Order: sequence, then C-alpha cells, then structure tokens
Amino acid sequence: MNTDNVVALVTGANRGLGRRFAEQLVARGAKVYAAARRPETIDIPGVVPIALDITDLESIHRAAERVGDVNVLVNNAGVSTRANLLEGSLDDIRLEMETHYFGTLQMIRAFAPVIERNADVAGGGAILDVLSVLSWLHPPTSGAYSAAKAAAWALTDAMRTELAPKGIHVAALHVGYMDTDMVRYIPADQKTDPGAVARQALDGLFAGEPEILGDDLTRNIRANLSAPA
Ligand SMILES: NC(=O)c1ccc[n+]([C@@H]2O[C@H](COP(=O)([O-])OP(=O)(O)OC[C@H]3O[C@@H](n4cnc5c(N)ncnc54)[C@H](OP(=O)(O)O)[C@@H]3O)[C@@H](O)[C@H]2O)c1
Repeated sequence: MNTDNVVALVTGANRGLGRRFAEQLVARGAKVYAAARRPETIDIPGVVPIALDITDLESIHRAAERVGDVNVLVNNAGVSTRANLLEGSLDDIRLEMETHYFGTLQMIRAFAPVIERNADVAGGGAILDVLSVLSWLHPPTSGAYSAAKAAAWALTDAMRTELAPKGIHVAALHVGYMDTDMVRYIPADQKTDPGAVARQALDGLFAGEPEILGDDLTRNIRANLSAPA
C-alpha cells in the first residue's frame, strides 16, 4: 500500500496502544481519525477526533457515515476485566465478548463497504485487528479475555478470506504484555513498549502480512501451537 494516501480510523485512540497507532500513522503521512468513547480526551496533534463506542451499533453507524474516506481500519479498542469463567461476573464475561468479538465484527461489517470504496487511492484497503498472545494461551485467570480474543482470531481469519476479493487485506496483531493502563499491575520488566509494537504492526500491515507477532513470547507460543496443551 501507498501510505501517503492512507486515511485511517483507529479505535481506542485516546491512550495506550491506540494512541501510538494514531501518532505513527500521522508521522507516516496518513490522515487519521482518532476514535474514542470520549473524543474530548484526544490530544494528538494532526488527527481528527471522532466519537465511537464499539459496543454501540448506532455509534458505529454514525461514525461510518461521517468518515466516508477511510481505507484503513485499526480495531484496537479493548478491555480486560480479568474475569475467570467459572466464578467471574457474567456481565464481565459478556463485556469481553461484546467488545473484542462483537465490537470488532460490527466495526468490520460497517466499515468494509467504506474501505472497499476508497481502496484504490491507497493501492488497497486494510484492516488490522489487535488480538493477543492470549488468543492462543488460555490461563484461567483471564478466561473471559482469552475466550473473546480467540473468537476474534477466528473472526479475523474468516474475514481475511471474505474481504480479499474486495481488495481489503486483513491482518492480526498478536502480542503479550505492553506497557499500557490495561496491565498497570504487571512489573515494567515484563512489558514491551507499545510504540515499538505499533511500529512493527503497521510495517507488517502495509507489507501485506496476515499475522504480526509482537514479541518473543508470542512467537514462541505460535510456533508451539501444535504441542499438547
Ligand atoms: N496492554 C497489553 O498488555 C495488551 C496485550 C495484548 C493485547 N492488548 C490489546 O491491545 C489493545 C489496546 O489495549 P491497551 O493496552 O492500549 O489498553 P488501554 O490502555 O486500557 O486502552 C484501551 C482503549 O480501548 C478503549 N475502549 C475500551 N472499550 C471501548 C469501547 N467499547 N469503545 C471504544 N473504545 C473502547 C479505551 O477507551 P476509554 O479511555 O474510553 O476507556 C482505551 O482507549 C486492546 O485490544 C487489548 O486487548 C493489550
């Protein structure tokens, strides 16, 4: 893809990894819609803030109508309730699915026609789904999150095949702990820099890679997927 003509929308762009995606897309010359539930919290120079809650279908449709020139979508927004599946709150378990699975699904369904319409100007359209090493590694301490990311992994693979004939490349980013609010409780030496992960993910997306593996743990788990659980 020609990144000069990229018009990207990043969900959850007000902080964490999403903020890094938005900043780096601006630095690469893209026009960037920085989407957030509270757009007033967006303070990134050069972006267009936009209101978007990915669990609210009306909010998604309003955003898709407003940003008719998008050709790249970064599905980054996410939550981590740390609910386990046996005794965790069902509301939390549903929130993980509503966000990572149904939120991503509804975003792609709403934005695929927009991206298809605008793909030619950038030499193709693209969607990046931010997943996790926990799509493949399922510790009981975050059963709800893992199940939702695993569902989003399947969604991403199926969408890749469905959207390829429309000129839209679909990629997944899988990664372990990054230094963001989501895992504030994890010691710093166990987390990677979200800026470096965003850079690697965008390089992979624009090079047409289907799967970007953000750190050594993720590469190791991916390589051993066929090993006994
Ligand atoms: N941090 C890690 O270790 C790690 C590892 C692997 C994968 N990930 C994934 O990376 C992505 C970014 O997470 P992060 O680490 O940057 O976490 P973060 O700092 O907690 O940021 C999460 C972002 O998602 C937004 N968000 C949550 N629910 C939303 C909704 N319904 N609609 C719109 N925006 C919503 C938040 O907005 P508000 O400010 O409004 O809450 C915030 O901007 C997520 O998909 C996460 O699962 C993170």
